Amino acid sequence: MTDPRRATSGAHPSSTGQVLAEVDWLDAHFEACRPEYEAMLRSVGIESGWRVLDAACGSGSFLPLVAELVGPTGEVAALDLAPENVAVVGERLVEWALACSAEARVGSLTALPYPDRHFDAVWCANVLQYFTAEETRHVLAELCRVVRPGGVVAVKDVDVQLVRIAPADPFLVSHLCDVSIRGPAATAQSVGSLRGRELRRWLEQAGLEAVWQRSTLIERWAPLRPVERRFWSEWLTYLAGLAEARGVLLSDLETWRALRDPTAPDYLLDHPEFYGCEGQVVAVGRVPSGPAQAVGESEQG
Ligand SMILES: C[S@@+](CC[C@H](N)C(=O)[O-])C[C@H]1O[C@@H](n2cnc3c(N)ncnc32)[C@H](O)[C@@H]1O
Repeated sequence: MTDPRRATSGAHPSSTGQVLAEVDWLDAHFEACRPEYEAMLRSVGIESGWRVLDAACGSGSFLPLVAELVGPTGEVAALDLAPENVAVVGERLVEWALACSAEARVGSLTALPYPDRHFDAVWCANVLQYFTAEETRHVLAELCRVVRPGGVVAVKDVDVQLVRIAPADPFLVSHLCDVSIRGPAATAQSVGSLRGRELRRWLEQAGLEAVWQRSTLIERWAPLRPVERRFWSEWLTYLAGLAEARGVLLSDLETWRALRDPTAPDYLLDHPEFYGCEGQVVAVGRVPSGPAQAVGESEQG
């Protein structure tokens, strides 16, 4: 049985109320996935000397690599909706003393506080999942607006159906996705957590050119490193809470409840054959250089 004193929601909300948006959680997720996450950022084509925006920067984990890619003649800007996240990023920028100029500010992707064509590239990781379809269209138009013609818009997001755990019923996560996305309890975020697979189409519809997309499976096997165990434990606790709230099959519920108790003797993450996998998707496009402007063109700036 789950000890209710041990079971947490695993929701990690920021002050804006958005789940999985709080600094400690974001740090753990990044560290557990660092090699794959950094490879994804390296793949998008950021060049030396560029001015780059990390849009929805969270705890700022990607910033040192962005700074490395743009080099000392480049510039990095970081923006996030949650003031406490921006405060942490501000402290980290002082501590890191990056080689290029860097600043962090509070703001929303829905109304970016930058002029048109201000950046050479934007990197926007793990945030489109929070938005409705209409908001996503609007945010992509904003990202396009602040990037110069020929510059890069790069987005990264999850496809929750690529989450796989073993040893367990192979359809455990699929059943949860089904009730979360098609059931009456569906939310913008549960629908958005499948948006990863469509990112390429979203960028094409935003008017970007030369669009490509690549999916990465982030696979971990027992024995897990402590940060991987922490990430997977909290992630599964969160999913187990959703399973409870959204009414999965009773047979699945027993499994999910067991996943909420990291102290249980038969806890899955301590199984010698534990396997955990999540799937992340990067899509990249270029703002058109010709007279036909991207959808993001506006009177701002
Ligand atoms: C899951 S975190 C991802 C953070 C970071 N990009 C990363 O990958 O580690 C989502 C972040 O988006 C921020 N966010 C959510 N809605 C936003 C908005 N409308 N404008 C700017 N930031 C937003 C949250 O505050 C949170 O820091």
